[in-house]
Amino acid sequence: MDSIGSLGLQQGEGAPSCPQEGLPCPSNSSEMVQECLQQFKVTGAQLRQIQTSLLGSMEQALRGQVGPAPAVRMLPTYVGSTPHGTEKGDFVVLELGATGASLRVLWVTLTGIEGHKVEPRSQEFVIPQEVMLGPGQQLFDFAARCLSEFLDVLPVDNQGLQLGFSFSFPCHQTGLDKSTLISWTKGFKCSDVEGQDVVQLLRDAIQRQGAYSIDVVAVVNDTVGTMMGCEPGVGPCEVGLVVDTGTNACYMEEARHVAVLDEDRGRVCISIEWGSFSDEGALGPVQTIFDHTLDHESLNPGAQRFEKMIGGLYLGELVRLVLVHLAQRGVLFGGHTSPVLRSQGSILLEHVAEMEEFLSVLRETVMLLAPNCDVSFIPSVDGGGRGVAMVTAVAARLAAHRRLLEETLAPFRLTREQLAEVQAQMREAMAKGLQGEASSLRMLPTYVRATPDGSERGDFLALDLGGTNFRVLLVRVTTGGVQISSQIYSIPECVAQGSGQQLFDHIVDCIVDFQQKQGLSGQSLPLGFTFSFPCRQMGLDQGILLNWTKGFNASDCEGQDVVCLLREAIRRRQAVELNVVAIVNDTVGTMMSCGYEDPHCEVGLIVGTGTNVCYMEELRNVASVDGDSGQMCINTEWGAFGDDGSLSMLSTRFDASVDQASINPGKQRFEKMISGMYLGEIVRHILLHLTSLGVLFRGQQTQRLQTRDIFKTKFLSEIESDSLALRQVRAILEDLGLPLTSDDALMVLEVCQAVSQRAAQLCGAGVAAVVEKIRENRGLEELTISVGVDGTLYKLHPHFSSLVAATVRELAPRCVVTFLQSEDGSGKGAALVTAVACRLAQRTRI
Ligand code: BG6
Ligand code: GLC
Ligand code: GLC
Repeated sequence: MDSIGSLGLQQGEGAPSCPQEGLPCPSNSSEMVQECLQQFKVTGAQLRQIQTSLLGSMEQALRGQVGPAPAVRMLPTYVGSTPHGTEKGDFVVLELGATGASLRVLWVTLTGIEGHKVEPRSQEFVIPQEVMLGPGQQLFDFAARCLSEFLDVLPVDNQGLQLGFSFSFPCHQTGLDKSTLISWTKGFKCSDVEGQDVVQLLRDAIQRQGAYSIDVVAVVNDTVGTMMGCEPGVGPCEVGLVVDTGTNACYMEEARHVAVLDEDRGRVCISIEWGSFSDEGALGPVQTIFDHTLDHESLNPGAQRFEKMIGGLYLGELVRLVLVHLAQRGVLFGGHTSPVLRSQGSILLEHVAEMEEFLSVLRETVMLLAPNCDVSFIPSVDGGGRGVAMVTAVAARLAAHRRLLEETLAPFRLTREQLAEVQAQMREAMAKGLQGEASSLRMLPTYVRATPDGSERGDFLALDLGGTNFRVLLVRVTTGGVQISSQIYSIPECVAQGSGQQLFDHIVDCIVDFQQKQGLSGQSLPLGFTFSFPCRQMGLDQGILLNWTKGFNASDCEGQDVVCLLREAIRRRQAVELNVVAIVNDTVGTMMSCGYEDPHCEVGLIVGTGTNVCYMEELRNVASVDGDSGQMCINTEWGAFGDDGSLSMLSTRFDASVDQASINPGKQRFEKMISGMYLGEIVRHILLHLTSLGVLFRGQQTQRLQTRDIFKTKFLSEIESDSLALRQVRAILEDLGLPLTSDDALMVLEVCQAVSQRAAQLCGAGVAAVVEKIRENRGLEELTISVGVDGTLYKLHPHFSSLVAATVRELAPRCVVTFLQSEDGSGKGAALVTAVACRLAQRTRI
């Protein structure tokens, strides 16, 4: 003990008398002292009970089962690994709350070389009592002033200073640089800080102060700083223990045990916040009347009961309470107390602590209670400052990565103005295309003039070529509705990109097979052919393929009438002559199919392998078809929008790479920004770029990522599904042969979101252009219209459809647009077009 004199007492002063009436005079002083101190003895059995109870509380909190008053909090920090030893750089560290009423600022240099240490420079500032208990802003302003004062005398420039904030109070951390104070502990009680992000409060104060530009990169608890800064002993240091003003520990926990994390691999550092451990059953028997008094008179009665039996802030106070008690009982100081002894906080930790002894008791107790663990205790040399700097180094690297990610994705985030511009350009291109002027939109007449009226009857065959699947269908249109039987056939890539003859022979083989299976051999049913490529039609049953799109590239087909190619193949195969009545684009098939249910359906939209739109246009606007009255369905072929360079402002380097690597460079530029065949490729190119920047996959290019088309639309939809946990995202990517960390998985998810959001918005801008044109054609103030939609991307992606709808609402506010998903595919629509044609033909014959 330092000096009893400082308490205003003299040994042996005054006569030994009993100061309080009614109290028995001590018959034997040393007996009374012993009796009093006996209360502080803890038996092995009691320690074991505390150990068991604390472990139980920890496990309960990890499982997320916390009672009304949490015994321990088990707060995940954002530290996932112990230091690599390669961290380097200069960092400012600000420590608040670790050591009593003082604040420490350090300048830490990490060399990145193991064993090579540079001594940190540091300065300590005493926090005045009124600041500890005053408004929060005052405390943070004080901290910012201390920072400036410290930096003023260092030879540093005011550029790019990176700060790690050691803030040693219970906090909910939501990021390496985001942490909300749950409640003050250890003599602090500043107003307006609980529930706030302390990093933001510090940033604001530094900005108010204005002297230095400092980036607060990470926030850590003192236990974490202690663990991270520890020189590894026999093994890595995986526990951080602080017994200072307060007490707490952190340790590396398996992530799968931490319910709130939703992560099943790896580990995470957990701050136990054991100071609040307060199990009455376990702690009750070892708590003395002095512990109760101390708690009662503290700033936070009832809270931090375990800490109040261990932390330095309280040990001196406990000694003081014992001394007052013994003095009042006449055992000490001749029964006298002094005003100083009677005042709270007059005995400090340094008056009573014997650190050596503390450490050896700690070691013995751990050995006793955890005999199977070989624990080394390594005293922290610089109070955790180095550890904080290490976390800061990691955080700084991650923040730099995030900036690079944001920069990379920025061109994908389109403003309303940009989308309105796309809409306007689309309108212009539509008008020019209809007039036969040069335009990237071909605006192809389809010779479909009316939607079904319900009087159509009969059995029809349909083919559906150009999407994910090739189908042959039998469609029966009866009074009771439409019944469909169909079969999917594959078109191998070598056939899709082989010779035209091979492709059409294959198609006829599939038809023959289907007819046999359906018992239709020998019958010549009317056939509707959904052919999802741009065709110039001169009638319903004539369609000259202008160019292949998507993955098709069969030779000798472009410039040919597809119906003729099919008929020739039938002849070659000597199959039964088929009566091909109509050739129909998939957009038209979809519109017709949905139109059978809803007469308002006058637009057909496809967002699948490719993308396209058709709609009912006024015939008077269609220059290439005679006649001025009535309407005709126009296949816009909007996939080619921008092929004249008009989208170059929006096109990113990744779009350019995808385009260049495709089988039709320079073509279908709008489609390549929107549809399922390309989105995965855009994502892959972005990931390659981020890897080359070192942001992803630790900068290591994998063979898999170099593989074209590894990302299918299906993966994008799965990855972005809300119900999917990050670990499932990681599993999907690992199945693709991409081994990644949770940080990587999160970034991949963000890349997917940016790419698919842009796709949906561009698609929405296009739909807005189309419906606005229809509204203006009809001179309506407001248009109510339905859009029939099909395509795997639109149907499977969790957010695509709602983003399209939101964009249309924004850009075409005078159109009330309903989106109808086609259930039966375009084949049904092709059959209906055929049915209408047959009905009309019959009528003409009559
Ligand atoms: C289907 C049509 O419903 O949608 C196909 O029947 C069409 O012909 C397709 O091409 C578009 O979707 P995807 O995703 O298969 O290209
Ligand atoms: C208090 C704080 C805790 C800190 C400990 C040691 O218990 O709540 O966050 O780690 O003191 O300083
Ligand atoms: C491509 C085709 C187009 C089709 C679309 C959707 O863009 O050129 O005709 O409608 O894909 O399948």
